[in-house]
Amino acid sequence: MASYDVIIIGSGPGGYVCAIRCAQLGLKVACVEGRETLGGTCLNVGCIPSKALLHASHMLHEAEHNFAAMGLKGKSPSVDWKQMMSYKQDTIGQNTKGIEFLFKKNKIDWLKGWGSIPQAGKVKVGDETHDAKNIIIASGSEPASLPGVEVDEKVVVTSTGALELGKVPKKMVVIGAGVIGLELGSVYARLGAEVTVVEFLNVVTPGMDGEVQKTFQRTLKKQGLKFIMGAAVQKTESLKTKAKVHYKLRKDDSDHVLDADVVLVATGRKPFTEGLGLEALGVTMSKRGQIEVNDKWETNVPGIYAIGDVIDGPMLAHKAEDEGMAAAEQVAGKHGHVNYGVIPGVIYTHPEVANVGATEESLKEAGHAYKVGKFSFMGNGRAKANFAGDGFVKIIADKDTDRILGAHIIGPAAGDLIHEICVAMEFGASAEDLAMTCHAHPTYSEAVREAALACGDGPIHM
Ligand code: FAD
Ligand code: NAI
Repeated sequence: MASYDVIIIGSGPGGYVCAIRCAQLGLKVACVEGRETLGGTCLNVGCIPSKALLHASHMLHEAEHNFAAMGLKGKSPSVDWKQMMSYKQDTIGQNTKGIEFLFKKNKIDWLKGWGSIPQAGKVKVGDETHDAKNIIIASGSEPASLPGVEVDEKVVVTSTGALELGKVPKKMVVIGAGVIGLELGSVYARLGAEVTVVEFLNVVTPGMDGEVQKTFQRTLKKQGLKFIMGAAVQKTESLKTKAKVHYKLRKDDSDHVLDADVVLVATGRKPFTEGLGLEALGVTMSKRGQIEVNDKWETNVPGIYAIGDVIDGPMLAHKAEDEGMAAAEQVAGKHGHVNYGVIPGVIYTHPEVANVGATEESLKEAGHAYKVGKFSFMGNGRAKANFAGDGFVKIIADKDTDRILGAHIIGPAAGDLIHEICVAMEFGASAEDLAMTCHAHPTYSEAVREAALACGDGPIHM
């Protein structure tokens, strides 16, 4: 048994970042993790492995579709699935080992095993109970289940199984046109699978800018993904190495069936709090199973905090990280803060999709007067040279003050470009501030400047 200033439960992006910041602030800290390796969902079965497969499959797509036009001729590469899986696994290993190194460097104790909180101020791991002045729950999330759909992680899989398939399926049905469905659907479509996405709503990626949704779906269709929209999945039927997906079209209540070698269920994630003992502690939970916290990330039980996917807000690694840093600062008596108005979201398909701040739809609903500056990547010299002219940058600014309220990008390197706008928003910049900033030529970021110019007197190259 040991005594700590802080014990963090969970070593995902929320937990491990919080642990490092606590140590930097001079606190004695331990982190409990039940997995074999550190890094949580993100490093083990989320962000990192999915991005490795997106990268590898994108390279294949480039070789198949764009190499010949650039004068690069020869046989296209073929897929060595075993090697691709081992590349993905190496990538995971490098990242999880990296966190282990950072824990050692910062003198953070890794308490191996599943933790519970028998009472405030105590954390039990295995047979040992440790004292903690503060406990921070960062236990993350798990895939949400769907009635009538039984996951076996072989034929009917969540994202975890989809990152571990034995081979590239011939036919894949994806339930849910959200972030996971479209990222992993893209991977398998590029690798040769026939991918059909079944979505309950009539739009992909709910909550995103409407124009981006339409362009995104159109682009993915061009890449071979099929979409069945407005469809409610009723059940799946597993037949050893195949499955059937039964769905109803909402517009006319008609019944349909799809055959698949693999079904990916990607209809959202839910907080993971099993085994922590929160009910006995009297920790207040929301109706959606999230731990409720105040603006200091403290629960209703003094000394117990919660961060990341297990609380409200977007289920994103960088949101969890920011909360991890801020909660550490709160515990250390400082003033940790997260600006929830400036949290970017990125979908790592090709083209990438990125957004931050308000959408036109949300501003209309709020009755907030705004203006829009838009610029197509077709007018960007670098994008044209790189076969990346599909997509646009859209900046939304306050109609009267010109202050930037949000931005939506679909196009090359959107996930990097968005950060220029995040920084501008953090500094309360106007669209004119961005437009008057010199941008190097030829770069994709010139499209951001042009969109900012479009909020004023107009873009130059359109
Ligand atoms: P988690 O990363 O879920 O970590 C929680 C950890 O706590 C787990 O390791 C778990 O084992 C451990 N734990 C739980 N309970 C206990 C206990 N009682 N005792 C000990 N240990 C415990 N987000 C992005 O921002 N970008 C992306 O590109 C992205 N891609 C994703 C791709 C996929 C396929 C998935 C599934 C998710 C993706 N996400 C992405 C979301 C991202 O992974 C999560 O938002 C992020 O991991 C949340 O971090 P967290 O620290 O709250 O929890
Ligand atoms: P999601 O919430 O993004 O999308 C779920 C989709 O499933 C929605 O479009 C929803 O309308 C649809 N759906 C729900 N029930 C359905 C039904 N019965 N039949 C058909 N469709 C149905 O959830 P997803 O994709 O599972 O991702 C979970 C979380 O992981 C997200 O919150 C996301 O933030 C995070 N994530 C982030 C990534 C990134 O940042 N690049 C990548 C992958 C995941």
